[in-house]
Amino acid sequence: MSALAHKEGRSVSSQVLSSFLVAQHREVDDLLTLMAASCGTPAAADLFNHLRRALEHHIALEEKVLFPAFEQRGGPSGPIAVMRREHAVIRELLVPQASLLSDGAPCRARLAQLEAIMSQHNAKEEQVLYPMSDQLFADCAEDLLAAMTESAAIAN
Ligand SMILES: [Fe+2]
Ligand SMILES: [Fe+2]
Repeated sequence: MSALAHKEGRSVSSQVLSSFLVAQHREVDDLLTLMAASCGTPAAADLFNHLRRALEHHIALEEKVLFPAFEQRGGPSGPIAVMRREHAVIRELLVPQASLLSDGAPCRARLAQLEAIMSQHNAKEEQVLYPMSDQLFADCAEDLLAAMTESAAIAN
């Protein structure tokens, strides 16, 4: 009897978790693009706060819900440790500084740093960690998704 038969018809590996998390990455990408266009303008501070809240919220979901569940299920701890270290770097780049935002060049430089680390961080998650999570939580993806949705106030 195949392992599939034990799942009583449920999908062994849906992409419900990766789809949800990748959509958040794309939202942050869009905010980064908007932010880059507003550096040095009066809109910069509000957009930066919006970007910071969205990114801190996403990181909190990963650190407080996904990563602990991943490790509890026996997922490898190495990639999680790398992701946590990169989150710390991202958080440092999100510290708001009024002077930085009101001046176009340093604002764009900060965003370039953020984009550089985000693009390689997100690629690792989307190519490695999220597909592993889809497999690891194949029998309870909806439950984990609900836990992430319910913790929407985590970073706010
Ligand atoms: Fe992350
Ligand atoms: Fe992520």
